[in-house]
Amino acid sequence: MTRRQVLAAGAAAATWLVSGGPAGAGACTGVCTTEADAGTLRAAACRRGRAFGSGVATGELANPEYADLVARQCAVVVPTWEMKWGQVHKAPDVFDFGSCDRLVAFARVNGLGVRGHTLVWHRNHPEWLPARLAGGGWRDILASHVATLCGRYRHAVCSWDVVNEAVEPEDGRSDGLRDSFWLKAAGFGYLRTAYELAAEYAPEAELVYNDYGCEGDARWNHRRRSAVLHLLERLKKAGVRVDALGMQSHLRVGDAFSTRSLGRFLADLADLGVKPIVTELEVRGDRIRGVHDKDRAVAALYRDYLETVLTRSNCDSVVTWGLSDRHSWRLDEDPTDRPLPFDSTLRAKPAYEALLAVFGK
Ligand code: XIL
Repeated sequence: MTRRQVLAAGAAAATWLVSGGPAGAGACTGVCTTEADAGTLRAAACRRGRAFGSGVATGELANPEYADLVARQCAVVVPTWEMKWGQVHKAPDVFDFGSCDRLVAFARVNGLGVRGHTLVWHRNHPEWLPARLAGGGWRDILASHVATLCGRYRHAVCSWDVVNEAVEPEDGRSDGLRDSFWLKAAGFGYLRTAYELAAEYAPEAELVYNDYGCEGDARWNHRRRSAVLHLLERLKKAGVRVDALGMQSHLRVGDAFSTRSLGRFLADLADLGVKPIVTELEVRGDRIRGVHDKDRAVAALYRDYLETVLTRSNCDSVVTWGLSDRHSWRLDEDPTDRPLPFDSTLRAKPAYEALLAVFGK
């Protein structure tokens, strides 16, 4: 089957999804054993035992040129939208895997791993969910969701964002947890249970806690880091498996950044036995005028940030939130920004060279 045929064949895709595929053992670096075009980000990262990948929306793959770029450059893809609760679980007893299956099928045909994103989040949820959880049935609802998704994609997903963005120091709780509808319904139990269920239904996958704002050096970054470390420690004490912290890494040129304080945070993670991975990287350059200067500044931050993470931790996976500026969610705010490695005509930019150089070190 060609790539395009697979995208058109949602139903056929579901057949192989449940019949077995390239099981990801532990982390997404397992896919590095397959061939990769020399000179690509995939090859450069794999050579050092790391997986490079990108967030992708199924609709974007309708463009064959873009689909080819993703297949060549990436070892891993992440659905930016299709696997979220609001898309796959619209009614309590109804799951819809159509577009998600097509994306996973694309990954399979091209020998790519998939990062699952995300099982529990306070955003992009169906309307029915908060009331049902509050009604007392949260454990059963969570179990059916996790069992169904992890079971369906067991042979495709090498790494799961089990919980996304569960801390919010601004909510004023002493434990730093976000005062979400999940917390209101279930307390800390929803976090612990989510990881227990993921370990049960996705035993071969890496289990990740994913969050933003742990990269920079502003005061709010320090508060988020403390809250995240506290949560990870609590989960570890509760005896659940959390293999990695997903650092979303939505960066912006001009924001406070310090190699030293980021290094300290990475050391704290190592003390806890939690590996950092980079899950949604892009660099906004909206404060810099002129394409040339913008591209240089963006590339420099890609380099400085990744050099710090890769040399000071056991990070083995780097995912950008899209490959081409054409698809970046950041262009909603500034349509002239250039935050990703390829421009809107799919030409490689200085950010791409920076990634290649960092992976090669
Ligand atoms: C974003 C997607 O990129 C957008 O297309 C969508 O409109 C909103 O969600 N943190 C996350 C991601 O964990 O799921 C978000 O993705 C970006 C912020």
